[in-house]
Amino acid sequence: MKEKIHSKFTSLFGEGGVFYAAAGRINLIGEHTDYNGGYVFPGAIDKGIMAEIKPNGTDKVRLFAIDRDEFAEFSLAEDALPGQHWPRYIYGVCREIEKRGGKVAGFDAVFAGDVPLGAGLSSSAALESCFAYALNDLNGNGMDLFTLARIGQSTEHNYCGVKCGIMDQFASCFGKAGQLIRLNCKTLEYQYFPFNPEGYKLVLLDTCVKHLLADSAYNKRRESCERAAAAIRENHPEVEFLSDAKRVWLDEVRDRIPEEDFIRAEYVIGEVQRVLDVCDALDRGDYETVGEMMYQTHFGLSRLYEVSCPELDFLARLARKMDVTGSRVMGGGFGGCTINLVKDELYDSFVAAAAEQYKEKFGHELKVYDVVISDGARKL
Ligand code: GLA
Repeated sequence: MKEKIHSKFTSLFGEGGVFYAAAGRINLIGEHTDYNGGYVFPGAIDKGIMAEIKPNGTDKVRLFAIDRDEFAEFSLAEDALPGQHWPRYIYGVCREIEKRGGKVAGFDAVFAGDVPLGAGLSSSAALESCFAYALNDLNGNGMDLFTLARIGQSTEHNYCGVKCGIMDQFASCFGKAGQLIRLNCKTLEYQYFPFNPEGYKLVLLDTCVKHLLADSAYNKRRESCERAAAAIRENHPEVEFLSDAKRVWLDEVRDRIPEEDFIRAEYVIGEVQRVLDVCDALDRGDYETVGEMMYQTHFGLSRLYEVSCPELDFLARLARKMDVTGSRVMGGGFGGCTINLVKDELYDSFVAAAAEQYKEKFGHELKVYDVVISDGARKL
């Protein structure tokens, strides 16, 4: 990938570029908890975005996306949003750096990625984090990693229409090889956990489907949670986020909120507890409990939060049938991957059966990604 980028870069912009990279992510457990102030448990993966970048002495940004074979250009002196969608992630990063008092000088860049698009592995966070990290470094802005993660998140909110939480950009910036990170999305305290479950593997099965309107459905889930939290807050003013609420407090407001908001909130409150249970289980080396919690999360995401789809449900059900330790939809949902915790000796037969039966049922292939927990944003 590096050579491909470099040869395009030199042909378009000459020598003298600097390489940066940032990663996609997985999440062991803690889904749709980040914007509710709860815990998440992600790690960066060995798939991401790589870019070669060089200041060009103008107020223009000139970009080439290798995977799309497309060129884009915008001016830092004007407010016009780029017409194509993909340059908006980079445009947004520039604007969000400036909003925070940082400098962005015009630059040329060529980039490529190997994090599959629409698979729930946060290709967009990888793109944002790669450029946020690079532009911070090249312009000597001295912003810390949290600020860079926030810049990516605000880019999603303000230029891409997704009111996401902080998990993806956090993982993409803070990732470390071999370590998962437990983040408290309310206090922003985090802790690295070495993750090397002996006798088990983590594998992702990509349904290769991405259902339309996922972004607006995501934003609607967030609104439901905020309405439920606001209702609970009337009785319990200490509830800043939904994750602060006890289950019985939700029951108290059942008649005051739409039924749909109630079941969404029911999922979130359960999920916040499951992350803590998984951490305890990991401390004991009890991967069977970790796996059981993953199934419970899948059930909640499918039946209560309703962000699953037939393809994901099929794969999680098959995993259960084959005695796989844990399986669930990962990320925002509406397609993308299941994450599976599989005993070594079951791995081959599970992956083979999943591939065969999935194809038979849905008429197209799934993809298999072995998870390697890797470093986050960096200069190469
Ligand atoms: C997407 C968002 C994250 C998070 C997950 C669900 O990946 O970008 O902020 O909310 O969905 O856990």
